[in-house]
Amino acid sequence: LASVEVDVASLQPGSSLIVKWRGKPVVVRNRTEKEMKDGEAVNLADLKDPIARNANLPSDAPATDANRTTPGKEAWMVMVQVCTHLGCIPLGQEGDFGGWFCPCHGSQYDTAGRIRKGPAPENMAIPVFKFISDTKILIG
Ligand code: FES
Repeated sequence: LASVEVDVASLQPGSSLIVKWRGKPVVVRNRTEKEMKDGEAVNLADLKDPIARNANLPSDAPATDANRTTPGKEAWMVMVQVCTHLGCIPLGQEGDFGGWFCPCHGSQYDTAGRIRKGPAPENMAIPVFKFISDTKILIG
């Protein structure tokens, strides 16, 4: 399917679901206050990949926490949950940065899915998506 509609009405802060989009797992996570604060507090100079990698933004947009989400819905991460090293599926809410941890070779991502440690070269990709209502997201 080119696009997928996801109902997120049941997703409380701190919970996630995964949908398949174009053969890839896409995580939709309603982040907690702490996860958002942790993401916002990161100094951009500390990022291994300073680019947002957000298909909804210009290709040179910086990897701020806000640029990894969508305006007005900053709690929500919608992200291709595929490690940018060799394509394994990272585990959610694991690792030193409270985001994602890839068990294959130890890449660690923060609460905005930005690579922070390990061999992966890039932040995990944000696909084209938008909220089509308060509780529905269209991916693709
Ligand atoms: Fe994730 Fe290698 S595939 S660290």
